[in-house]
Amino acid sequence: MTKRFHGVTSLVRVAVIGIYYFSGTGNTAWVARQLAARLIDLGDEVTLTSCEHASALDVDPAAYDVVGVAFPVHASFAPLVFRDFLDRLPPGEGKPLFALTTAGYAAGDTAWYAAQPLQAKGYDPFLLANVKMGNNLHLPLLSPLPVTPPEKMEPLLYRARAKIAQLANLIQQREPYEEGVGLTGRALGIVQRGLVERFEDLAFKGFWADETCTRCGWCVRHCPVHAIEMTETEVAFGDKCIICMRCYNFCPVQAIQLTEATRDAEKYRRYSGPEGKPYPADSVGPPIFRVG
Ligand SMILES: Cc1cc2nc3c(=O)[nH]c(=O)nc-3n(C[C@H](O)[C@H](O)[C@H](O)COP(=O)(O)O)c2cc1C
Ligand code: SF4
Ligand code: SF4
Repeated sequence: MTKRFHGVTSLVRVAVIGIYYFSGTGNTAWVARQLAARLIDLGDEVTLTSCEHASALDVDPAAYDVVGVAFPVHASFAPLVFRDFLDRLPPGEGKPLFALTTAGYAAGDTAWYAAQPLQAKGYDPFLLANVKMGNNLHLPLLSPLPVTPPEKMEPLLYRARAKIAQLANLIQQREPYEEGVGLTGRALGIVQRGLVERFEDLAFKGFWADETCTRCGWCVRHCPVHAIEMTETEVAFGDKCIICMRCYNFCPVQAIQLTEATRDAEKYRRYSGPEGKPYPADSVGPPIFRVG
């Protein structure tokens, strides 16, 4: 889905900005929308597109003055589905680019790392930044840190709005700005990527639906990589999962598990998203049923 916004007349340079994003549980979508709104207030024209609704091959960098990409930090990587999208983007031919991450705790050098292949393709990254949002990942073995509870979201979003306003000004002025490329950020990135590459297969054996599943089909309809199928006997999770945490967090009855331990919904709380509702918003449709 592509949304086109038109800015108001302003004395500063008006730019046409195309932002492409991926969001697993709504944080990055929220940030991208806030940023678009702010840039429009500053006079720009902004197109906001989820990579779930676009082919990278159809992106025309020549149509924009600035291209932006936004995505959640997944252990110092961009999510696999978004890395694939970035890989398929056409050459940048010098187009100014900003890369924006969202992270629950610390982003390290993720924006920089993800922008490297784009730079090699001719984009010109001038702004690399992170907006701290709620943490959507708490799983046995993979991540010991708690998800951000709803009662802590308001101050978090307040700070995020202030950061987004600052970033919008920098983007408007094409002001060079880099976060995460110092020693600490780079070290965190190198260590995390190394750990994931070695141990992710050991720590993540895939999700499954327990006996409380109502077969509502929400997870099947909304998995961004179509990894979930409903058969006559079960809800089956294939091997394409990118651990975006959408189905696990937003299953209406918390039936999706990683281990027996995650049945304890007090200990392994589900993240409720930046606005306390599932992402993406559901239009009530018929349950999907496919014979396996
Ligand atoms: C697989 C995975 C890995 C993550 N790794 C990190 C991390 O290394 N550092 C961090 O601060 N947050 C990490 N997070 C939390 C997310 O980056 C954060 O909640 C993000 O804002 C989610 O954005 P989304 O709702 O747009 O998917 C991770 C989340 C997932 C699902
Ligand atoms: S969202 Fe939950 S209840 Fe609905 S089909 Fe998926 S696992 Fe079952
Ligand atoms: S199976 Fe669930 S966690 Fe994995 S990619 Fe699909 S929605 Fe995301």
